[in-house]
Amino acid sequence: MKAFSLDSEALAARRERARQRASEREGPRLASDFAAGKPIDDDDLATLLLSQDVPTADLLAIARANRPPGAPKLQTFSPLYISNECDGECLMCGMRRVNSELERVTASEAATDEQLDILYRRGLRGVALLTGEYRYGPMRDEMLKRTTAAARSALERNFSHVLINIGSLEVEEYDVFFGGVSPLADAARLTMCTFQETYDPVVYERFMGSVRENPRSDFVRRLENFDRAADAGFRSANPGLLLGLNRDLAYELLALSAHVRHLLARDMLVYISLPRLRKASGAAYRVGVSDDDLARVVALLSVAFPQAKVVISTRETPEMQRLLVPVIGVLTAGSPGVAPYTDAGARFELEKSQFEVTDQRSIEVILAEHLAAGATIDGYEPAAASFANPA
Ligand code: SAH
Ligand code: TRP
Ligand code: SF4
Repeated sequence: MKAFSLDSEALAARRERARQRASEREGPRLASDFAAGKPIDDDDLATLLLSQDVPTADLLAIARANRPPGAPKLQTFSPLYISNECDGECLMCGMRRVNSELERVTASEAATDEQLDILYRRGLRGVALLTGEYRYGPMRDEMLKRTTAAARSALERNFSHVLINIGSLEVEEYDVFFGGVSPLADAARLTMCTFQETYDPVVYERFMGSVRENPRSDFVRRLENFDRAADAGFRSANPGLLLGLNRDLAYELLALSAHVRHLLARDMLVYISLPRLRKASGAAYRVGVSDDDLARVVALLSVAFPQAKVVISTRETPEMQRLLVPVIGVLTAGSPGVAPYTDAGARFELEKSQFEVTDQRSIEVILAEHLAAGATIDGYEPAAASFANPA
């Protein structure tokens, strides 16, 4: 299949049309079609996003009604940052190369394995492995080797879901990865993550830069990453938007929906991340997307793609988590510091982290709240410790 591509001018024209339809008050009719389960297309979704006469509470109610009956069925995983070194220059990120305020650390293989043991003992069965992205050369090769070793360790430890969030990879790099994790590389347990952040190439360049030697600044290379991942054997992809970079949410929704459709057509399982921009060490950018807009995007994607799983993290407050849990597929808690976990908690030092986490309660407390409300959470076995040591 041809790699995913975008026509941003055509998308902008469709966004304009959606704006017009919203101002002509087409929203309420679309909302009833939406509620009745009539097929609606991406242009209708963008129109609904922009329709001020369709309350967010209505969109959330439609999304809830579209979920399987009963309590929310969630999944979880926790992030494990192996390093906060990076050659990327993304303006919004604490890890960017030129941020002299960040204390750089890379976890040793032993420390990484110990972190995996801690997470496992704490009941986590899903883990995301993260690093920066690096210029071509020894550092890039080394970090790929470390991530591969960590993925192998996680698979050996019986984690049921291992997500790889280390920037986009080349064809040969995917071969290195699969060579290193096989024969444990059961593709059903692996997900490749690269959030496009913004699907507008102009906004992308403003934040991610345009230095040729910096692979992270290559918009198209990132856009095509899941196609290389699929060719290499990944069956699961996690695209996403960094909400706050581009104010034009309707454009982003149209583009993301097209990307998700492409991945579903490739027979991939799809996770959709919608992180909101948070404060970061040495970074000035904090353009907001309101709670209301986030809830609208989540509700619309939840209905449009029932087979995909929307991911919400502890970047969001407990209140936002409670609001969105009934309509999402994944709630992820943890710290973006390097090897931050202890047996009971985690370190959240901003001067060593990618960004500031809003909800710093322990993973157990966060997940227990939703379990107590009746949710089931795949990827979490809180009783594991007591089963291992029956009293
Ligand atoms: N270096 C890898 C891993 C990124 S970490 C890469 O760039 O692909 C995962 C995500 O964190 C990023 O894709 C981005 O969406 C998000 N992120 C970056 N800076 C952030 C900030 N200041 N606040 C919230 N999320 C941020
Ligand atoms: N930034 C990554 C992501 O959004 C890692 C992550 C997952 C994360 N869950 C988190 C970071 C919770 C901080 C808190 O996928
Ligand atoms: Fe590096 Fe990723 Fe941060 Fe960009 S978003 S600076 S590539 S860690």
